[in-house]
Amino acid sequence: MAIGVPGLLSVAAAAAAVLCLSSLACATGDAGNKQLRFRENGEFKILQVADMHYADGKTTPCEDVLPSQAAGCSDLNTTAFIQRMIQAEKPDLVVFTGDNIFGFDATDAAKSLELAFSPAMSSSIPWAAILGNHDQESTLSREGVMKHIVTLKHTLSKVNPTAVEIDGFGNYNLEVHGVEGSGFENKSVLNLYFLDSGDYSTVPSIPGYNWIKPSQQLWFQHTSKKLQRAYMSKPVAQKAPAPGLVYFHIPLPEFASFDSSNFTGVKQEGISSASVNSGFFATMVEAGDVKAVFTGHDHVNDFCGELTGIELCYAGGFGYHAYGKAGWARRARVVLATLEKTDKERWGPVKSIKTWKRLDDQHLTAIDGQVLWSKRTKGTRRKKQIGGV
Ligand SMILES: *[C@@H]1O[C@H](CO)[C@@H](O)[C@H](O)[C@H]1NC(C)=O
Ligand SMILES: *[C@@H]1O[C@H](CO)[C@@H](O)[C@H](O)[C@H]1NC(C)=O
Ligand SMILES: *[C@@H]1O[C@H](CO)[C@@H](O)[C@H](O)[C@H]1NC(C)=O
Repeated sequence: MAIGVPGLLSVAAAAAAVLCLSSLACATGDAGNKQLRFRENGEFKILQVADMHYADGKTTPCEDVLPSQAAGCSDLNTTAFIQRMIQAEKPDLVVFTGDNIFGFDATDAAKSLELAFSPAMSSSIPWAAILGNHDQESTLSREGVMKHIVTLKHTLSKVNPTAVEIDGFGNYNLEVHGVEGSGFENKSVLNLYFLDSGDYSTVPSIPGYNWIKPSQQLWFQHTSKKLQRAYMSKPVAQKAPAPGLVYFHIPLPEFASFDSSNFTGVKQEGISSASVNSGFFATMVEAGDVKAVFTGHDHVNDFCGELTGIELCYAGGFGYHAYGKAGWARRARVVLATLEKTDKERWGPVKSIKTWKRLDDQHLTAIDGQVLWSKRTKGTRRKKQIGGV
């Protein structure tokens, strides 16, 4: 399907040519030379797809659906759900937060990845992906999976920053610039960070899942600082940093800080974070720009809860060949950032960030709308944001 992409604008062809020298991506990918930016209406929308668990397509059955839904249910239902979500929401970016494929059941990793991402690839909407703990269980290593992803059509995914030593594969950031023709057209007014939260601990005395390493946190700190410096300098110098949103697969231990009295959504299973805390939450609080974190991994948790100024959000399970809860619909999370309208510059910095989820039912029912963050303006400084759209 062809959907217009007002969120994109080509930048200098020369810069794109340089980017192509060292990467196969240019042979097939064509989003590498595009700059994400807010639309003319001052909005930028992100669709998060968590835990597709794709395997071989038509022959791969669904898990945890009602007995009456099992016949004729396969990976193709996951594909159909993405297509419907793209049509309904017309996002400016689709983010796949890991366990994109369920490696153990995928005969050919490259082929499975291509099938999994095909709705994004054919929609010509830019998309970004990171790794979960199951992506490497088929015929490609974690490095191999990430290296294949970056060659796919319309992706903005990157393997890793160049010239830094970093753990994992798929650590990168994307800038979202202001509206074309506005004073913020060359500034990143919304920053997206993507990190590889790994798979399993390789330290014998520490069981369980892996964690975000010091090398990754250092890269995040450095990147955040650089972006804040640019945003808070001329022209249109800002006093506060541009909001940042962080995407990775495995939830942090801090996701266990909530109960139903202080989150929106549901918690139907434990928080499967690493068994140690590597401090990334504190690193993000300290950086000062991060407003929300989005993970997957625990398919039947779909809540957002706020801890010391950062919203910690699950997307809820998306894929049909993934464990779930029969009768509890597969779902996706949408994030909408809206710019402030200013007299002089027409569109200013980000004013608010909202979220909701949509269920894979007949009407793609939207639920749990809430405000994740809004810019403080003079006179409302002491008002506490209490959420609710
Ligand atoms: C899966 O897709 C088939 C074919 O479109 C559809 O008939 C069926 O209802 C879907 N199953 C679920 C659980 O959505
Ligand atoms: C943004 O950059 C372009 C190209 O360098 C320039 O023509 C334009 O004036 C810049 N816009 C602003 C608001 O600085
Ligand atoms: C949520 O509420 C519970 C009490 O019901 C409390 O123990 C917990 O600290 C609260 N969490 C946050 C992040 O405020």
